[in-house]
Amino acid sequence: MLGVTGSIAAYKAADLASKLTQSGAHVDVILTGAAERFISPLTFQSLTGRKAFTDKELWGGESHILHVGLGHAADLFLVAPCTANTLAKFAQGQANDLLSITALAAQCPVLVAPAMDVGMYEHLATQENVRVLKERGVHFAGPAEGRMASGLLGLGRMIEPAEIIGHARRVLGLQGKLAGKKIVITAGGSREAIDPVRFITNRSSGKQGYALAEAAIDAGADVTLISAPTALTPPIGTNLLWAESAEEMLDLVLAKSTGADALIMAAAIADFRPEKVAGKKLKKRDGIPQITLEVAPDVLLAVASQKPDVSRPRVVVGFAAESRDLVANAAEKLKSKNLDLMVANDISAKDAGFDVENNRVILLTPDGEREKLSLRSKFEIAEIIMARVSLLLDKLEK
Ligand code: CTP
Repeated sequence: MLGVTGSIAAYKAADLASKLTQSGAHVDVILTGAAERFISPLTFQSLTGRKAFTDKELWGGESHILHVGLGHAADLFLVAPCTANTLAKFAQGQANDLLSITALAAQCPVLVAPAMDVGMYEHLATQENVRVLKERGVHFAGPAEGRMASGLLGLGRMIEPAEIIGHARRVLGLQGKLAGKKIVITAGGSREAIDPVRFITNRSSGKQGYALAEAAIDAGADVTLISAPTALTPPIGTNLLWAESAEEMLDLVLAKSTGADALIMAAAIADFRPEKVAGKKLKKRDGIPQITLEVAPDVLLAVASQKPDVSRPRVVVGFAAESRDLVANAAEKLKSKNLDLMVANDISAKDAGFDVENNRVILLTPDGEREKLSLRSKFEIAEIIMARVSLLLDKLEK
C-alpha cells in the first residue's frame, strides 16, 4: 500500500508507484486531500492498474470496511512523500482521514519517506514525532539533504524513488529466512598496484557479488559487502567496505567474517601481484620495466585455516572461474579451500560469467552433489545460493 500526502514531492510518488508496479507489486494508493491538490488519483490508477483511494471513499457506503481491508491486505504500509502533518498524525494516533485511519488498521511494517522544508523537519515537534515513531518500530527512508522547493538547502528532501524501493526491500526482508544472520560477501576484481597510476586487475564486474548482497538483504540478513572498486550501486541496507588489493581483502575479510554466519567469496582476487610497487610513476624514458610477480595472499586458504566454532564463519561459499575441466578443478578447490559450497562457472562462455547480466553455474558440495543451473540472471543465481546458505545454516542449528 502506498500513501501519498501533500508535498510537492508527490509528483515523484507517481514514478515510485510505476516502479513498484513494474517490479511486480500490487500497489493500492491512498491520497490525502492535500495530495489530491498536487496530483490526481487518475495518475496512480493509470500507473498501477488499480483503484486509487481518496477521502471521498471514506464517506462512501463501504467506508467501515475499506480502511480495515486496505490495512490488513498490505504487506507494507509505505508513505511517500510523508509530510510533517502526517508524521504528527501517525505519532499521535489521529484518525481523521482515510490514510490515517488505515494506518491504525495496518498490521504490516510501516515505512515513511519524509518530505518537508528543512526548518519543519528540524523543528523539535517533528523530531519528537520521528523519535516516537522510530521507537514504535516505524521505519524511515530519508530524508536527504538538498535543495528544497523553498530554495533553502538542508535536510528534508524526499529520497529518490529507486532508493525508497531499496528501503522497501530491506524492510520486507526483515522477516526473511536469513533474519538476524550475519553474512559477509566479497565482490569485484581486485587491483594490484604497479606504480601510483597503474595496476593489474581482471575482468570481474562485481555484478554477481552485488546480486548476492541484494538477495541476502531480501532474505533479512545483516550484510557486509567487501567490494573491489566498481561502478555499481550497493543495495540499500548493506554495510559497504572497499578493498583494492588481495592484502586489503584478506585483512577486511578476516576482521569482518570472524563469527559470521556465512562468508561468500564472489570476488575475483589476484593470484599474483608485483613483487615491488614503484613509489613514483614509471617513466617511458627509463625503458621497459621488468615486473616480477609474487604470489598474493589467498583469502579462502587463510579462512580455511581458522578454528571452526571460534573464528571461521559457519558456512563458507567459494566461486571457481574456470576455462577448462570445470567440475574437476572446482571440486579440487572445494576440497583444498575447505568449502561448504562451491559455485563453478565456465568463463569461456560468451553469454555468461564476467561482466554480463547472466550466469550459468554448477553448484558442488563436499558430499559429491552436483547441481547444474542453466543460464539465468545473476540475481536468480544469487537467490538460489542464498537459499542454499539458509539450508546449510538450518542444518547446523539442528
Ligand atoms: N580466492 C581467494 N584469494 C585469492 C584468489 C582467490 O580467496 N587470492 C577465492 C575466490 O574469491 C574464489 C575462490 O578463491 O571464491 C577460487 O578462485 P579462483 O581464482 O577460481 O581459484 P584459485 O584458487 O585462484 O586457483 P586458480 O587461479 O589456479 O584457478
